[in-house]
Amino acid sequence: MRLEAREVRVHYRVGGRTLEAVRGVSLHVDRGERVGLIGESGSGKSSLARALLGLEALAGGAVQLDGQPMHGASRAQRRRFQPVFQDVGASLDPRMRLRDALAEPFEIHSVPFDEAKLAGLLALVQLSPELLGRLPRELSVGQRQRVNLARALALEPELLLLDEPVSALDVSVQAQVLNLLQDLVAQRALGLLVISHDLDVVAHLCTRVLVMYAGKIVEAGPVAAILSRPRHPYTRLLVESRQRLVEGKGEPPSRLEPFPAGCAFAPRCPLALEKCRTEVPALGGASHRSACFVSGGD
Ligand SMILES: Nc1ncnc2c1ncn2[C@@H]1O[C@H](COP(=O)(O)OP(=O)(O)O)[C@@H](O)[C@H]1O
Ligand SMILES: [Mg+2]
Repeated sequence: MRLEAREVRVHYRVGGRTLEAVRGVSLHVDRGERVGLIGESGSGKSSLARALLGLEALAGGAVQLDGQPMHGASRAQRRRFQPVFQDVGASLDPRMRLRDALAEPFEIHSVPFDEAKLAGLLALVQLSPELLGRLPRELSVGQRQRVNLARALALEPELLLLDEPVSALDVSVQAQVLNLLQDLVAQRALGLLVISHDLDVVAHLCTRVLVMYAGKIVEAGPVAAILSRPRHPYTRLLVESRQRLVEGKGEPPSRLEPFPAGCAFAPRCPLALEKCRTEVPALGGASHRSACFVSGGD
């Protein structure tokens, strides 16, 4: 199975102006592959995620699952590609007992199930079947995120998209959920697209990483290369600061102004040349790619 996005664009209309959230992103994820997408808050990761799932209209480009468009995909096709979102609270109906929340995917897709199947789903995410009668508010945040994961796994998808899967969790619970995810992905040979502003999450789960800045992919390569030898000045900043210092080092461009000509990172970039302010660098290179005139790909 292959998820493929080509030159995807997502625009929003805000107060009569156009906000270009995703500005021509291409990527692919094959079955069994684990790909991470990192970037600061506001870089367009969730907009891209919704576009990949066929939930956000495309202002340009195309998204395909095994060559079939995701927009207007059949239910059978959607079953194969399931999301888990960050917003643990909002994903579960507060009035629905876990039994019913877990039954929902089967009911929506008219797939037969029984109590043992639901208990099995809870076991899969290392929760006790005794929780089937509980309401979401009677669970911890970490347990709720496991239930979300169980729901996403109910119909045996081939590809999971995780958007900030552990950002709402305490650090100790994060590690547990990440280990659980790692086991499940290995057991089921799942493809994975993990979106996070946290490099450690992606380093834990993924083999290949894409770095997004201001709606574009600026660097792509094997996780070890990105972490130990980042090329793009933005990725270097991310890796060096592990996110914490980025705030002090300038701001991403305002999304409502027209983009500056040239590289969107140039106004913050310590290495920027004159050319960087007038021309947009392409994502060059083979296995380790970088969209930078100063430090390009291999
Ligand atoms: N539904 C929306 N309407 C208008 N603007 C949006 C909407 N969703 C996201 N944005 C804007 O698009 C940009 C990218 O946001 P988002 O995709 O959520 O980024 P990330 O997930 O990387 O934090 C931000 O400037 C954000 O404010
Ligand atoms: Mg987001």
